[in-house]
Amino acid sequence: MPRPIIVAPSILAADFSRLADEIRAVEAAGADWIHCDIIDGHFVDNISFGPAMVATVGKHTKLPLDVHLMIEHADHYVPRFIDAGANSITVHVEAEAKHDVARTLRQIRDAGRRAGVTLNPATPYEAIESHLAEVDLLLIMTVHPGFGGQAFRADQMAKLQRACAWREAHKANFDIEVDGGINAETAALSIENGANALVAGTSIFRSGDYKTAIREMRNSR
Ligand code: DX5
Ligand code: ZN
Repeated sequence: MPRPIIVAPSILAADFSRLADEIRAVEAAGADWIHCDIIDGHFVDNISFGPAMVATVGKHTKLPLDVHLMIEHADHYVPRFIDAGANSITVHVEAEAKHDVARTLRQIRDAGRRAGVTLNPATPYEAIESHLAEVDLLLIMTVHPGFGGQAFRADQMAKLQRACAWREAHKANFDIEVDGGINAETAALSIENGANALVAGTSIFRSGDYKTAIREMRNSR
């Protein structure tokens, strides 16, 4: 049976001056999770927001908070995002993220939250495979992280296929999420290749009609 499609708007593209309204609007428009992009100015070349903002988001929605850490030393900050109400926390495998990935994933799961692992487009698939037995969520980045509004990289679809094959072979049960440049068209391609969770910033928050944008993405296959 195919997995239900999850749509996770990334608030990085929301109007921060009306954040509570934006969150309520995407919830009413059919969003499943709220994706929070945490960027520290070290792991990638931009700065977004921290745990206090995640806690604020949580005050305005009942939806699960899907926290994507693009930061160094994730292990040091994980407890603060747990306190802030994160339901899932996804961490990067690149050496530049400067943490023991297996330990951080355990830390997240021990706190009763969903643990996610992710990799940049330039990082080979092999870098995540040894962690797949220990995750609830695998995120395949379809842009280099740091900024919304970049073009989707179809060359990452091979990673989706390999992760799907691994999941089947090992009878595992993690969600497979894509993030970066997702719209109705690239959602369809991602779903075809095995994704069931879609992160989208620009194509939702910069559209005039959140409900249509979310519906078109969900029903794109
Ligand atoms: C990239 C972030 C994404 C980003 C997606 O650094 O991880 O979540 O906000 O934005 P769009 O959908 O605009 O590519
Ligand atoms: Zn993200």
